[in-house]
Amino acid sequence: MKIVITGNMGYIGPVVVNHFRKVYPNANLVGYDSGFFAGCLLDHLDYPENQLDEQVFGDVREISNDLFEGVDAVVHLAAISNDPMGHAFEEVTDKINHLCSYEVAVRAKDAGVKNFVFASSCSVYGAGGRNAKGENDELQPLTSYARSKVSAEEALRSLANDGFTVTCLRFATACGISPRLRLDLVLNDFVANALSTKKIEILSDGTPLRPLIDVKDMARAIEWASLRKAGNEGNFLIVNAGSNEGNYRVKELAEAVRKELPEIEVAISPQAAPDKRSYKVDFSLFEKLAPNHQPQNKLRDSVSGLISGLRETGFSNAHFRSSSYVRLNALRKLQSKGKLNSELYWQ
Ligand SMILES: NC(=O)c1ccc[n+]([C@@H]2O[C@H](COP(=O)([O-])OP(=O)(O)OC[C@H]3O[C@@H](n4cnc5c(N)ncnc54)[C@H](O)[C@@H]3O)[C@@H](O)[C@H]2O)c1
Repeated sequence: MKIVITGNMGYIGPVVVNHFRKVYPNANLVGYDSGFFAGCLLDHLDYPENQLDEQVFGDVREISNDLFEGVDAVVHLAAISNDPMGHAFEEVTDKINHLCSYEVAVRAKDAGVKNFVFASSCSVYGAGGRNAKGENDELQPLTSYARSKVSAEEALRSLANDGFTVTCLRFATACGISPRLRLDLVLNDFVANALSTKKIEILSDGTPLRPLIDVKDMARAIEWASLRKAGNEGNFLIVNAGSNEGNYRVKELAEAVRKELPEIEVAISPQAAPDKRSYKVDFSLFEKLAPNHQPQNKLRDSVSGLISGLRETGFSNAHFRSSSYVRLNALRKLQSKGKLNSELYWQ
């Protein structure tokens, strides 16, 4: 079995590669990435790419058909992957996340790839509402990033057929430890703050809801999708990936961190403006379709993994929000050094 993983050098990719290597020790695993965050490693002596059979450096905007020769499944993670970056690079985000996702899938299909897995996001549901969002609910993408994921899903729909199974996993917000750790994610930010300042400051009244999924559980979902047969759910599937018990209130996340680090203070700002991004998601379809690939990591597992992973590196940077642990900062740094141009091409 040969699998291409695009965007393998990001936060989620190394955990996905590690998982595939464990469950399919003999698989031929190929990574494809432009390397925006290549240097953002927790441990500079341990490159996650060592687990691959091949690492290809390249931009999905210039991807060649040859990459997909003899490939069974493509896991497409490469993207401008959050709201702040999407806001800073609006056109590039649509190009990479939407137009190129379609282009990559066309090339994969032409080469005979059977399964295409697209990393979508629950952010497509946008603002709140009382009920948990199901796959058929109205979408209200509020940001360029979320809009790019909606457009990509729609474009991919037209490509699926009996020989080309497409699965769009609408992931909950990621959390947990990874060799290329990011601290621009709510739980990861809380743990980093707790370790470096002994305080978590919640910039809302703490009630907004955030569905979370640990990166290890994302990898399990991706494994399921990369082998999915069309069957009853069809050759094109959109499914929320996470678990119903993973719909947490922000203050519950802070409390989970305090449970592991009792000395920290949790400060809530009851006067803060309402957080528009509060939403609850229904993951029942994923539970029904993938009973053997359900999330296994509890919130406390994600928290303790982050604590021990960060402690091992001696992490104590109270100013981490200005560091390359935040993806937008990493891109800005490369730009300020003249390495990346305004369209995020290496120069
Ligand atoms: N982190 C989350 O909470 C979350 C939630 C839902 C969905 N997702 C999706 O999962 C995927 C992976 O997320 P992540 O958190 O690992 O993101 P990340 O930003 O850490 O990694 C993305 C990777 O894609 C690569 N990339 C970006 N543009 C590229 C291009 N033009 N050509 C080649 N490579 C390119 C980057 O170099 C990087 O290594 C993304 O599609 C993201 O939208 C993430």
